[in-house]
Amino acid sequence: MFWDEVYKGTPPWDLDHPQPAFQGLVQSGEINPERALDIGCGRGENAIMLAMSGCDAMGIDLAEDAISDAKAKATERHVKVNFAVGNVLQMDRLFEEGEFDVVIDSGLFHVMTDEERPVFAWQVHRVLKDGGKYFMLCFSDKEPGEYELPRRVSKAEIESTFSPLFNIIYIKDAAFDSLLSPGIRKAYLLSATRS
Ligand SMILES: C[S@@+](CC[C@H](N)C(=O)[O-])C[C@H]1O[C@@H](n2cnc3c(N)ncnc32)[C@H](O)[C@@H]1O
Repeated sequence: MFWDEVYKGTPPWDLDHPQPAFQGLVQSGEINPERALDIGCGRGENAIMLAMSGCDAMGIDLAEDAISDAKAKATERHVKVNFAVGNVLQMDRLFEEGEFDVVIDSGLFHVMTDEERPVFAWQVHRVLKDGGKYFMLCFSDKEPGEYELPRRVSKAEIESTFSPLFNIIYIKDAAFDSLLSPGIRKAYLLSATRS
């Protein structure tokens, strides 16, 4: 599987620290100590940061190696996070409805196909409590380049995917930190609540 292969090395998003955009959400109080799920958590930096800020944090990812590395990292840092292998498009097999207060997504939505996007939005909506929050960081269409993945996403695409099921609070210009040179990529940060 593509994602398992990727984690045999160090992919460009695989930082040794959380994405600053999500640290900012904790600092601003938009993410409080609550039950939080990181979808497509990779090697777990963002979920570990949430746990360290007081959240009851869980992370899921398709890639088994990424999950075992995330578990080892959390153990090494003495942080309690529940990491599990799981497909975001099949979360109804993993979680009850309304299990989480907050879902974060650092670079997962932008790898979904057009066909997967509505399923993805439904699955995120389903695991959130009423009024639960979804924060998503994706590559923006302001980022130059032609390559296929990650997709560059427009504000209109974010709105059309999520507005049927969520109240959109904002879609802000933001940045992705990466190991590429230069390290910063143009992104959008979505804040939405389950409607
Ligand atoms: C761009 S990476 C971002 C990883 C992590 N969020 C980070 O910021 O380091 C996208 C991640 O989504 C995972 N992924 C892709 N499709 C998935 C799916 N259907 N369900 C769960 N995880 C998935 C990949 O294995 C990969 O770890």
